[in-house]
Amino acid sequence: MIAIPTMRQLLAQRPKMRYIFTGGKGGVGKTVAAAGLAYHYASQGERVLLASLNPVHSLSSLFGQSLSGGKVVEVQGAKGVHAVEVETTEVVERYRNSIRGRVKEFLKWADIPLDAKPFIEIATTNPAFEESAMFDRMVDYILKEGEAFDRVIFDTAAVANAVRLIGLSKIYGLWLTRMIDSRKEALSMRVQLSFRKEKVMEEVKKDPLMADLISMNERFEQAKGVLVDPERTAFFFVTLPLALPIAVVRRFIGMVQKFNIPIGGVIVNEVLRPEIALQEGAGEYLGNKYHEQTGYMKVLYRDLGPLVRSYIPLYASEVGGVDMIRRVSEDMMSYAPPFAAELSGGA
Ligand SMILES: Nc1ncnc2c1ncn2[C@@H]1O[C@H](COP(=O)(O)OP(=O)(O)O)[C@@H](O)[C@H]1O
Ligand SMILES: [Mg+2]
Repeated sequence: MIAIPTMRQLLAQRPKMRYIFTGGKGGVGKTVAAAGLAYHYASQGERVLLASLNPVHSLSSLFGQSLSGGKVVEVQGAKGVHAVEVETTEVVERYRNSIRGRVKEFLKWADIPLDAKPFIEIATTNPAFEESAMFDRMVDYILKEGEAFDRVIFDTAAVANAVRLIGLSKIYGLWLTRMIDSRKEALSMRVQLSFRKEKVMEEVKKDPLMADLISMNERFEQAKGVLVDPERTAFFFVTLPLALPIAVVRRFIGMVQKFNIPIGGVIVNEVLRPEIALQEGAGEYLGNKYHEQTGYMKVLYRDLGPLVRSYIPLYASEVGGVDMIRRVSEDMMSYAPPFAAELSGGA
């Protein structure tokens, strides 16, 4: 049996891994795992940004301090961990305004004497709009704000969205190129200089809508470049040792692999410790639960072996406050249930 690198070893082997995502089913411990990872890096002297992009935030309650307001705040008692709860409503509003501006400008440029409102309605009320807005904000953190940090850890439910958008990027890229081409064409007709390419390019550069399209395209390409780069990016999937969340992880892994998004590994959370579940007087319930969990973890290990990086024990209470997050960060770097230690041949 090959020894599986623990989370600690993996992170040490991949120092350039700057963008880290935690995904998985609701309630499995994505936020807890993201916080544990952030704490781990910060405890080594790094500046870490922990960004929550969820519609409902839990960083404040997890750390037991107010981190809301949409601003980056250093967490008290966790030097180096900087947290931000990104406000969905704010992001959505800003995104809607920028779309509004674009649509209006487009109609004006194309000389289409139509009310912009219905177009804006269509663009901004489709069900994926909020997700797209949050994705766009995430791209900002990757390309801009994130630059000031050694690591950026995203606590987000939007893994599926990120994946979909990357999948869509081909179509999106095509669409942008089309727009750029037709814009060039229109401009060249306008200036009646269709045979003087340099002149057209000059006009193209001066044109605001054109500049907008080109920069959107560049920005998108750049973000995609980061998201599929196995050196800089990793998606971690969090699961409980239960059938359903494991099924969700499998599905995510399949999706993510299809789009070449790099996988950091799987984190198994809320693992019962045998010294507790099997101790004298623990009762049948805990004993059964323990064996059930072990069964699922063996299946997971059999199927995903080397991808299973980390186990987090089930604690006696919810995770809350910096002291407990420190404990999570230590456990997730080194805890191994007995079966895992046997299988990997380690101690
Ligand atoms: N290992 C654990 N032991 C005890 N409670 C946990 C553990 N992991 C998570 N929890 C609790 O479970 C709840 C869900 O965790 P959370 O990280 O918010 O899930 P998610 O972000 O995936 O929705 C929280 O109340 C958290 O404190
Ligand atoms: Mg969460």
